[in-house]
Amino acid sequence: LNIAVLGSGKGSNFSAIASAIDRGEIPAKIAVVISDNPGAMILEKAKGLGIPTEVLPRGKYKTWLEPWIEEELVRILKKYHIELVVLAGFMRVLKETFLSCYEGKTINIHPSLLPAFKGKEAWKAALEASVKETGCTVHWVSKEVDGGQIIAQSKVPLLPGDTPEILHARIQQAEHELYPRVLKAICLDWLNQKGG
Ligand code: GRF
Repeated sequence: LNIAVLGSGKGSNFSAIASAIDRGEIPAKIAVVISDNPGAMILEKAKGLGIPTEVLPRGKYKTWLEPWIEEELVRILKKYHIELVVLAGFMRVLKETFLSCYEGKTINIHPSLLPAFKGKEAWKAALEASVKETGCTVHWVSKEVDGGQIIAQSKVPLLPGDTPEILHARIQQAEHELYPRVLKAICLDWLNQKGG
């Protein structure tokens, strides 16, 4: 299965997925890594592994992409024959132009037990709310931000002495286990349907 990974930042989830693929655990190939941030570490990591990279035009807005940029994104995804889009720390909300082509084919990981704590820095919100546990969620991407159908979740405890950084690191550890596991399940399912 040809996948694209989209990220804006350090790309630790990308690395976890790439390693799992490398170990032969996921029947997928990362055909391209795409970023909206030309300085993102995820691009360096991809290049280091010999994976093609593409950078989107920055555009006028920080949190979303104008339709012409989403068209460009769709063009790139088609060029690489992408069947599944994997968002891993991609900081732009994707809208109609993209979703009309890739809704049902795009997954995201979010650092909370959705529907709790949607939006940015969800680990901080969990800490401030003094909940007993938080975690991470893999979900299908839909037009409601962090609101698409939930695929799987992993729980993480809050512990005495937690700072936002410590808690975020604990959630990320859980992400690095959950995301490859979910991706594997989706790919196997997909291949079964194709084959049968
Ligand atoms: C993760 O915490 C993910 O939940 C959120 O963005 C972060 C990406 O981290 N959507 P990385 O770039 O994969 O290290």
